[in-house]
Amino acid sequence: MDFFEYRHHELYCEQVPVARLCEEFGTPLYVYSHATLVDHYRKLDVAFEEVDHLICFSVKSNSNLAVIRAMVQEGSGADVVSGGELFRVLKTDIDPSKIVFAGVGKTRAEIEQALQADILMFNVESMPEAIAINQIAGEMGKVARIAFRVNPDVDPHTHRHITTGKKGNKFGIDIHMAAKIFQEAADLPYLNVCGVHAHIGSQITEVEPYHAALQRLLPLIEELRTSGVNITDLNIGGGLGIIYQDEQPQMAHDFAKAVLPYVKRSGCRLLLEPGRFITGNAGILLARVIYVKQTETKNFVIVDAAMNDLVRPSFYEAYHKIKPILIQNDDQFIADVVGPICESGDFLAKDRMLHSVQQGEYLAMFSAGAYGFVMASNYNSRPRAAEVLVKRDQYALVRERETYEDLIRGETISPALEL
Ligand SMILES: Cc1ncc(COP(=O)(O)O)c(C=O)c1O
Repeated sequence: MDFFEYRHHELYCEQVPVARLCEEFGTPLYVYSHATLVDHYRKLDVAFEEVDHLICFSVKSNSNLAVIRAMVQEGSGADVVSGGELFRVLKTDIDPSKIVFAGVGKTRAEIEQALQADILMFNVESMPEAIAINQIAGEMGKVARIAFRVNPDVDPHTHRHITTGKKGNKFGIDIHMAAKIFQEAADLPYLNVCGVHAHIGSQITEVEPYHAALQRLLPLIEELRTSGVNITDLNIGGGLGIIYQDEQPQMAHDFAKAVLPYVKRSGCRLLLEPGRFITGNAGILLARVIYVKQTETKNFVIVDAAMNDLVRPSFYEAYHKIKPILIQNDDQFIADVVGPICESGDFLAKDRMLHSVQQGEYLAMFSAGAYGFVMASNYNSRPRAAEVLVKRDQYALVRERETYEDLIRGETISPALEL
């Protein structure tokens, strides 16, 4: 459920007309709905209420401080994958004992930073990484809690770029080698090996891949316990799919129904790392039509948002519903919606049936709250968009639009090079 709706042909976010936000803050503009974020978080939380669980909001999906803070206020932890994300989440008064840290290439500095913060655990992706964490923890006089991320070799039936738990993906340790690797790590003095983790992909719409993964993880947990490695936490990652177009994703309670029997059998605390499920449909990207151009073969709606603002269509061939924020009539036409970037790959929609639009009108790209702003870049020296959070009839600018000065911050024309 989300809180973006048309009232008398005008788009609202909660109690706020979106047109007001476009006028006040300009475009391109990301707008997030607080009620939607909270609704999604609570749906998952309630679905798992019968077991001991911790939701660690996956910050990579949307790392705006205000969004993280809204989740923290709900009791959420955080799943981070870099020192930068850890830095961010620590700014929100999060309880560090609710932070998990994944990623295949954690550096010494990042490991030190996480140990210093006393996070809940590292999701370790290789034996060399476990050895590094052990050594650094020893030097710091600490014991690091770790889970190994296991690659269960399961096909999540999603886009190849967001498939992460199949043989050949760079993530985690091979399920067939897992028992041996866990044992070796458990023998290291500055590691407390307490978790099994798997994240098999993103935008997963069926429960079957989770069944398949858990069917492989449960015997591993039992084997580890038998050999004296006391696994207390089972982390099944994120990956829950959402509706962008006409998908029929599993609902939170379907997902819980599938997962709960395994969790109960394991006797573990359950950790979850949802990202897209919480933020995806809680955000829209607003853009202004600069020109409408007709060629012999196509219509182009050229807008002021581009692939640098929302890369998902170019990168994943992703679909985002696009509508004017004021629907003036029922006329429709087919067009590509494109940005001003000098790439043919710069598009937001291709051959899309759209409401007819005029120069100067505003369009909303829906379901842009996850992997939207966080994947934005400055390509073509375009300042990144502003972000606004709406809560009931209130709203606030939660990230300023970048300026041209921001674009060159840190650059110098070095005299040392006689330039
Ligand atoms: C380790 C890990 N956990 C959680 C997530 C969040 O995934 P999603 O946004 O699909 O829920 C990701 C996404 O890539 C991830 O890599």
